Amino acid sequence: MVTLLYSPHLITRRIMPENQEFPMLSLSSRITPEHLFYIRNHFPYPHVDMRTWGLSIEGCVNKPRYFRYHELLKMPQVTLPVTLECVGDKRSFFQPKTRGEQWGLGAISHAVWTGVRLQDLLLAADVQRHAHEVTFEGMDKGVRTDMPGVFSYKRSLSLEHSLHPDTIVALYMNGKPLPYRHGYPARLIVPGWYGMASVKWLHRIVVIEENFQGPYQVVDYVYDRKPLTPSSPEPVSTIRLNSTIAEPTDQEVLAKGENWVWGTAISGRDPVDLVEISTDNGNTWLAASWMDQYEAYSWRRWCWKWRVTESGTYDLKVRAKDTAGNMQSEMADWNVKGYGYNAIQHIRVYVN
Ligand code: MTE
Repeated sequence: MVTLLYSPHLITRRIMPENQEFPMLSLSSRITPEHLFYIRNHFPYPHVDMRTWGLSIEGCVNKPRYFRYHELLKMPQVTLPVTLECVGDKRSFFQPKTRGEQWGLGAISHAVWTGVRLQDLLLAADVQRHAHEVTFEGMDKGVRTDMPGVFSYKRSLSLEHSLHPDTIVALYMNGKPLPYRHGYPARLIVPGWYGMASVKWLHRIVVIEENFQGPYQVVDYVYDRKPLTPSSPEPVSTIRLNSTIAEPTDQEVLAKGENWVWGTAISGRDPVDLVEISTDNGNTWLAASWMDQYEAYSWRRWCWKWRVTESGTYDLKVRAKDTAGNMQSEMADWNVKGYGYNAIQHIRVYVN
């Protein structure tokens, strides 16, 4: 049986597997409500039977463990606000075009996640000294177009990153049990990293001695910049500095007077400390104001009041700067799979 959950509130990019994006115009609060949160799946939804579900911890551990749901619920919980962004977000803006889901602006959303520190689960299993990485397996599986076989969605993290106190196995999203589409009963949350690391429908954690070589680790989710020559591509990790105009939208017609320009900014590395807007195609820039406080791992909304006295065509741009002095640039870092688009956003509006 195929489960389709398809939300009518989201922008659909694909029905099978279900891939839907957050409509940026619906950005009325910092936290994205469940029905608007983007969805990125590689396979059909898995069947989850809570009578048998458990989370196993195995491999290079002295005490293999099998946690039932009620046991996880009873463990100490932490709550973290974390923005998830698919590394394919904004892929449709790459020139030349690249393969993959043609996401617009909204393969990104923000929620408050509550769960158990992965550290606590690993400590309970007593990780062996020669352990090197930890793999995370989702319950969903299916075929790939580029190699034979059936694969689960499986990723790895270094042992060090797995033991980071902010890496959690989430059981709740926005104060309610994790929704099925977002990985019920448990998912990994890797704050600051692109969304591929946050494995949904998690049921198996294996501690290993070597580098994990699964296709969702070494074939997908690498920045491959040389299509024709062999290269050793850089793995995708933290969310790049980025900013987005939610409103007005590209090609919108506005009236003279006061118009609000607003949107979001994010970085998974150094905090964003400035967002600037240009209405003259990047010749002059003015600072926007923050609508949200700084919070680690979280997008931050900004706004800017634009007083327009002259009718005409305006090229609006937004760019963000971080505390390390990095600034978004005009050119995207083109790569074969269309990952990590973070060029300055440019829209054109008309004032009557
Ligand atoms: N986990 C499993 N089990 N299967 C998946 O297809 N997709 C990953 C990640 N975790 C995926 C997964 C990707 S690429 C992203 S961007 C996020 O989940 C999306 O999370 P969401 O659907 O809750 O927004």
